[in-house]
Amino acid sequence: MKSLLFAMPGNENFADRLVAALGAELGAVETRCFPDGESYVRLASDVSGRSVVLVCTLDRPNNKTLLLLFTAHAAHDLGASSVGLVAPYLGYMRQDKRFRPGEAITSSAFGRLLSSSFDWIVTVDPHLHRWTSMSEIYSIPVGVCHAAPKLSAWIREHMANALIVGPDVESKQWVSAVAADAGVPYVTLEKTRRGDRDVGITLPDLERWRSKRPVLVDDIISSGRTMEVALTHLSKLGFGASACLGVHGVFAGDAFDRLVAAGASTIICTNTVPHKSSAIDVSDIVAKAISPYVQ
Ligand code: R5P
Repeated sequence: MKSLLFAMPGNENFADRLVAALGAELGAVETRCFPDGESYVRLASDVSGRSVVLVCTLDRPNNKTLLLLFTAHAAHDLGASSVGLVAPYLGYMRQDKRFRPGEAITSSAFGRLLSSSFDWIVTVDPHLHRWTSMSEIYSIPVGVCHAAPKLSAWIREHMANALIVGPDVESKQWVSAVAADAGVPYVTLEKTRRGDRDVGITLPDLERWRSKRPVLVDDIISSGRTMEVALTHLSKLGFGASACLGVHGVFAGDAFDRLVAAGASTIICTNTVPHKSSAIDVSDIVAKAISPYVQ
């Protein structure tokens, strides 16, 4: 029997692509809010005995998680043989340490929460920094896809003479892979985060790269401050027309406009979070990663 994919609100486009790539069936789910703000969900397709996949990217996760968990619960309750989650962007990965006494380590709390409701998860480039693997915080199988080959293909096609710039030391894992695959050089900057939107960046000597076109590459563009500060430094040094390339374009508030104002000539992300910058489709690599779970 074909697996049954349900698109949670806002995930219709990505789910359609997965359905086509997997030869799966699209299920119908009805959701709405009661007048008091509580959530209603109904699986309008029969899930009994089927392997069910819920597609829900988890940027702005507070607004999405409860409905997602209710839907997973309903699918189990109605007899689905398995219930998996495709979260192209998996939120709550960044608080991976108690920086100040008393703080919640939300990455592990969120991991426990999702692990209690799903049989497996597939995601794209989760933000693994202090955690080295998903199994440290998720007790269910987590399939991880990497967008680096997609980013490098985009650079090869669109950015002649690129110098890849990783805005912080953590980004080395992505930028080195992207640069190697695109056949271009890379540098990493040094970042100090003093607050949610307070970021300081130090640049190495970039004189020898003067003739290159900087392409800033990072896994997440959230407040946009990391890229904005890096862009400002590059432009003060006389580099023109820098591009910003992100795996996950979360773009909190006015982040996108601020990057444009800071001199970004091009801002491109994958479609893990739907946005006007989502020009790189990763649904094919996600579909491949789902296959083993829905056989
Ligand atoms: C850092 O840990 C990440 O790799 C990104 O650099 C960070 O999430 C970007 O955040 P923002 O856009 O808020 O500066």
